[in-house]
Amino acid sequence: MSKLRIAILGAGTMGRRHIDYVNASGECQLVAICDPDSGIAGLAAKNEVPLFHDEFEALDLAAPDGAIIAAPTILHEELALACIRRGIVPLVEKPITAALDEGQRLVDDAAASGVPVLVGHHRRYHPRIQRLWKLVKGGAIGSLIGVSLLWAVKKPDEYYDIVWRTRAGGGPVLTNLIHEIDTLRYICGEITSVYAATSSATRGFEVEDSAAITLNFTGGVVGSIFLSDAAPSPWSYELTMFENPSYAHVEGNCAFFFGTEGSIAFPTMELWRYPSADNAGWEQPLEQERHEPADADPLAAQLAHFCRVIRREEPPLVSGEEGLRTLAATQAVLTSGSKGKPFELQAA
Ligand SMILES: NC(=O)c1ccc[n+]([C@@H]2O[C@H](COP(=O)([O-])OP(=O)(O)OC[C@H]3O[C@@H](n4cnc5c(N)ncnc54)[C@H](O)[C@@H]3O)[C@@H](O)[C@H]2O)c1
Repeated sequence: MSKLRIAILGAGTMGRRHIDYVNASGECQLVAICDPDSGIAGLAAKNEVPLFHDEFEALDLAAPDGAIIAAPTILHEELALACIRRGIVPLVEKPITAALDEGQRLVDDAAASGVPVLVGHHRRYHPRIQRLWKLVKGGAIGSLIGVSLLWAVKKPDEYYDIVWRTRAGGGPVLTNLIHEIDTLRYICGEITSVYAATSSATRGFEVEDSAAITLNFTGGVVGSIFLSDAAPSPWSYELTMFENPSYAHVEGNCAFFFGTEGSIAFPTMELWRYPSADNAGWEQPLEQERHEPADADPLAAQLAHFCRVIRREEPPLVSGEEGLRTLAATQAVLTSGSKGKPFELQAA
């Protein structure tokens, strides 16, 4: 089977990571880089691919089978539409778009043209998330009752030297929480309403630094999240999962899933339940099992899936609609926080 041809649109921090994965893949090959920054010339030369400064030229001349869009989010709609209109399958980095109406246009255009769209919520491919999904959906803890998630880290103060990060939209809700929201939607089901208290009291910027959030999911499942990027703490996906070696690593958990027959701590994958469902109650000893899978790189797994999506062998695990619903639920946190009222999300 010949290798699929992949173009990278946007070769900054994330685009360079994608280039490394494409180069390491046996299923696809890099055929073009598109980035208006002329400083990328050396990167293109090193990879022995042409560098384009215009996406239309890149897509028309390099004629890739798929394109990975890792440009600033504000450009995602325009770049993804350029791909779709040429029958090129896009993998759009998260968030799908900057605004919901842009995402809706992208989803509608993709549906009309029949070109699949994959959104880069790569955590869904992590073996621990996959195992969690199988355990929860397979009834290992009975019917899901609720979830409690922590995302508390200390971002270095210099992180906020970049001014846009201190302004509305540049904070931890849209940058970081969107990953957690996507994971919770995947494991717990659709979010129907959000009620958030947001605070900027610690850093004192316009943008939030902390939030306490309650969530309602379909079927009466409830959830809570505490979020802060100003709190030194080991309790976050980043520090407990060690998926990205840029962060320090600490053994521990950052989320707890509760069902009628047991509970699971993530990411240690401790499953607690009674040996006999007929003799369950807080006076009885709980048993602990470990369900840790072998770890594997979720970005590599996402790329392998992208290749199968391009070949139409699988539907996208995170479709445009899925990416849009994750964005809507994430934005609902900010809307609820600013209005001080619960925010109801539209049914699918
Ligand atoms: N999945 C994840 O965990 C993750 C992590 C970081 C960033 N991201 C997402 O990846 C995207 C890029 O983020 P980043 O941190 O790499 O940004 P970045 O600023 O490091 O890189 C963006 C690149 O896009 C280029 N660019 C600008 N206009 C372009 C155009 N018209 N066509 C092609 N390229 C263009 C810029 O010159 C730059 O090189 C964002 O949407 C971000 O949310 C995802």
